[in-house]
Amino acid sequence: MDIKEQLETIESEARKLFDSVKDREALEKLRVKYLGKKGKIADIFSQMGKVDSDERPVIGRKTNELKNLIAELHQEKKSELEELLKARKMKREEIDITLPGIKPEMGYTHPLSVIINEVKQLFIGLGFSIAEGPEIESEYYNFEALNIPEHHPARDLQDTLYIDDQFLLRTHTSPVQIRTMEDKNPPIRIIAPGRVYRSDELDASHSPVFHQIEGLVVDKDISFSDLKGTIQVFVEEMYGADREIRFRPSYFPFTEPSAEVDVSCIVCEGKGCSLCSGTGWLEVMGSGMVHPNVLEMSGLDSRVYSGFAFGMGWDRIAMLKYGIDDIRVLFENDLRFLRQF
Ligand code: PHE
Repeated sequence: MDIKEQLETIESEARKLFDSVKDREALEKLRVKYLGKKGKIADIFSQMGKVDSDERPVIGRKTNELKNLIAELHQEKKSELEELLKARKMKREEIDITLPGIKPEMGYTHPLSVIINEVKQLFIGLGFSIAEGPEIESEYYNFEALNIPEHHPARDLQDTLYIDDQFLLRTHTSPVQIRTMEDKNPPIRIIAPGRVYRSDELDASHSPVFHQIEGLVVDKDISFSDLKGTIQVFVEEMYGADREIRFRPSYFPFTEPSAEVDVSCIVCEGKGCSLCSGTGWLEVMGSGMVHPNVLEMSGLDSRVYSGFAFGMGWDRIAMLKYGIDDIRVLFENDLRFLRQF
């Protein structure tokens, strides 16, 4: 094949190949095949020595023209492929701004949190602050310093989850009373919300872990009427202003006198129903005047200071307020339940 024929073959072959190439790698290979150092065009130039000298300028020009043509074919294809790629990417990223947005699902406040937020708000308004204590307690804070004698049934293995012979999971939030009195001088006004543990079987009304909210006020001249007034405000805020309140004499080793606080049933309003077991009353907390022994053991002079304390079931408040009849739902984190709050 003479050079002219070679040029023609190269041109028609190149046109076909560049036209049909589908991706950038293949295109680059084609560029090398024709325009590279060892490519077809370079090959033609290397044959120029064999060409008659009078034909050489014409062949030289033709070869240059072909080289430019191929460079153009390459450039065109390159832009074409780039456009295609861009279009594909656009398609992938296409956003229809007229579509309604997808609302991200927000978390829900757990009913126990709803309750404690309200309770905190209320007591902070009354000048209380929030106290905390450890869930793993010593016998001393959980029992002894609370005037609970060694052989008291509450200390029994039946009720208490012991860790060893000295430490246990606190059975109530009352040890926070002791820790607070040891730590701070009166006037003391705290509430202490937290988890407590008892070795109960799990059922609709019992859980081995549940929650209490403790209250403690210690100062000079604190009397039972201060206790009554505080409870009154609390009950009216939490259970409604038309609730009746009843203080029923009771016994706790760490308070004297002690009283159980009942409120008129939120369902039947005193007539008697299944929620209040026909009594018309719901038991909502234990309370009393801090026992002088407890003040003394915490380092406070019981001739100077007096105080009152109360302790209530935090889960129970949530159950009463939201009509929950199974305590287990408070611990299961089932979204179908939590979504309602
Ligand atoms: N700690 C008591 C209980 O768990 C409740 C209580 C607290 C009673 C404070 C009186 C004063 O039952």
